[in-house]
Amino acid sequence: MNKHFHVQYDEQQIAWLSFDAADATTNVLTEEALEEFDQQLLGIAQSHPKGLVILSAKKNGFIAGADVKTFATIHSPEAAKKLILRAHDIFHRLEALPFPSVALIHGFCLGGGLELALACRYRIASTDPSTRLGFPEIRLGIFPGFGGSVRSIELLGHLPAMQMMLSARSLSAKAAKRIHLLDYAVPQRQLKNTASKLIEEQPPRHQANLLQRIPGSFVLRPVIAGILRKQVAKRVRQSHYPAPYALIAHWRQNAGNSAQMYASEAQQVSSLLTGETAQNLIRVFLLQDLLKGLAEKSDFLAKHVHVIGGGVMGGDIAAWCVLRGLKVTLQDRAPEYLGRAIARAHALFQKKLKDRYLLQDAVDRLLPDHLGEGVGKADVVIEAIFEDMGAKQKLYEKVEPQMKADALLATNTSSIPLEKLAEKLQHPARLIGLHFFNPVAKMPLVEIVTQADNPPQLIADATRFAKAIGKLPLPVTSRPGFLVNRVLMPYLLEAVTLLEEGVPATDIDKAAIRFGMPMGPVELADTVGLDICLSVAEKLAETLHNEVPTNLRDKVEAGHLGKKSGQGFYTWSKGKKAQKETARATTDKLDHYADRMILRLVNESMACLREAIVDDADLLDAGIVFGTGFAPFRGGPMHYADKTGTAEILSKLRKLEYTYGNRFAPDPGWEDHFTKPGGMHE
Ligand code: NAI
Repeated sequence: MNKHFHVQYDEQQIAWLSFDAADATTNVLTEEALEEFDQQLLGIAQSHPKGLVILSAKKNGFIAGADVKTFATIHSPEAAKKLILRAHDIFHRLEALPFPSVALIHGFCLGGGLELALACRYRIASTDPSTRLGFPEIRLGIFPGFGGSVRSIELLGHLPAMQMMLSARSLSAKAAKRIHLLDYAVPQRQLKNTASKLIEEQPPRHQANLLQRIPGSFVLRPVIAGILRKQVAKRVRQSHYPAPYALIAHWRQNAGNSAQMYASEAQQVSSLLTGETAQNLIRVFLLQDLLKGLAEKSDFLAKHVHVIGGGVMGGDIAAWCVLRGLKVTLQDRAPEYLGRAIARAHALFQKKLKDRYLLQDAVDRLLPDHLGEGVGKADVVIEAIFEDMGAKQKLYEKVEPQMKADALLATNTSSIPLEKLAEKLQHPARLIGLHFFNPVAKMPLVEIVTQADNPPQLIADATRFAKAIGKLPLPVTSRPGFLVNRVLMPYLLEAVTLLEEGVPATDIDKAAIRFGMPMGPVELADTVGLDICLSVAEKLAETLHNEVPTNLRDKVEAGHLGKKSGQGFYTWSKGKKAQKETARATTDKLDHYADRMILRLVNESMACLREAIVDDADLLDAGIVFGTGFAPFRGGPMHYADKTGTAEILSKLRKLEYTYGNRFAPDPGWEDHFTKPGGMHE
């Protein structure tokens, strides 16, 4: 049964076991692959080789981790524990082989992949920049469960290993070598020779030195655990994200006793894995895959992008595309408008590209082009000029005849219906929206805004393009606010209404953060800019049955635009809020404020689903999590509604409607949701 692994022996009697997961582009440790690995180990052990080298036949990397899809199907801690104990057995067998074993790493070596490598006697990795080693488990609501929490400590020492697991950060080969996670970091071409040499020489296996072992002593552990907890508490709450706290407790109670560590790891990880947080974070991970998968219906390949409008958005879109390897021409009304965008782009390249050749290449790929000479050569033309329908239409009239017949014509408009913008085109159906979010470099989502006449292939090509530049594409229909702004705005407006009622901004923000939002809505509004919020609120007022709150208008009229002007709902100095984040309200009150804001967001999500702005609830959840940062551990607004129970959501909305008016009127979609199979999970 050689489906995923293939073994070859060389003349020195070294076994080279190559992982090449069948029907997959990436090596992942599925249950089936693990079982086959075990069988292979058995066979290799019986052949008494001089040594074993484990490597990957995939170009993109060694092993990306355990199979997250399987995690989503495990619902009982007992089933999870069975899987974990089985992996423990297999990796123990690998560790106990009587001959030396080497993990030969290139590309990613993450999670379960790194745990497999840790069970080998030696680890060698390629110094290519694509090599990354790390434990991303905390992001999925668990911690390393295939022996990683034990072996990493034995190899690296307590603090480096704990930091690595708690931070989920991945390391380059050189950084990994520095902390002794690797025995050697060498250029790709020397990997195999280095492995043969190690097997020949058999130096002692590396182990953490005395200094690195001291923090695990019985006396120091409780103190260090306290410090680690404090560090974690600055980032996440235990009630939202239990995994880092569980990892610290697991270490504090068991470090120093290997058998106990393995047993506790299996126990803790199986209970975390089947808990709500991990299951929701796993859901979010799979939603990300779902969005990426949407790009598979096309093989559209863009090499040259022409961006028109070098302002806040156009400039950053151009810089981002360059960073992702494309050639970009950037056009504005006159050369003087391009200087700022080019300078901002260069600053971004400098931050992201440490290699000076790569940096120079990026600088060379961005061409200022105020005459628009790139239009005729580009594979994609992205318009990001002022939000003015007439100006955009006039521009398209000029640009369309110059474009290549098969090039994409995309707009970054945030509010003008595509059908209107396309009116004056010779081929109106060719206009599509690529709605990026600000700041472009940080926001992972791009809405692919479609009009009814867009050919499916065009939508597929635009989706492919967004994925190719490293964004998560989400097709949405061209309705006011599309998906993300439409759902986010009622939440922000409710926060502004609370402010108008006299609730302090810090209480409002605290209420949202307690729910799990990454940033409070008042701070978010100040950060986005109150002028931008006002303009979106005005455009959506009718759709949302929500008049624009007077205090928002007043602030903008007074020039108090938020962070950028130094004064908004908060006072800002050097990019920081002057007010402290202390809430004065009782927890009951905070819960009530959170309900008001979150239920408006959830209710609007239902409206978008009913209006088919996205195809289904999973896509909606993906859009809101990646477009707004909606508490990922809650799995998205529709998932949250289903978990809470439709009846409870409806009952709360009705009570709020009674007290605060019809902006809380339950969307008619809830009635359908009740009767749809699978729609009701109470
Ligand atoms: P901006 O005002 O910062 O930049 C617009 C740029 O377009 C200016 O540099 C201007 O000189 C240039 N321009 C205007 N007319 C032109 C023409 N005919 N030919 C060439 N260049 C021209 O605007 P911003 O914020 O970058 O917005 C651009 C578009 O992106 C708008 O449609 C807006 O709705 C949309 N958008 C804005 C977001 C934001 O947060 N600012 C977020 C998502 C979309």
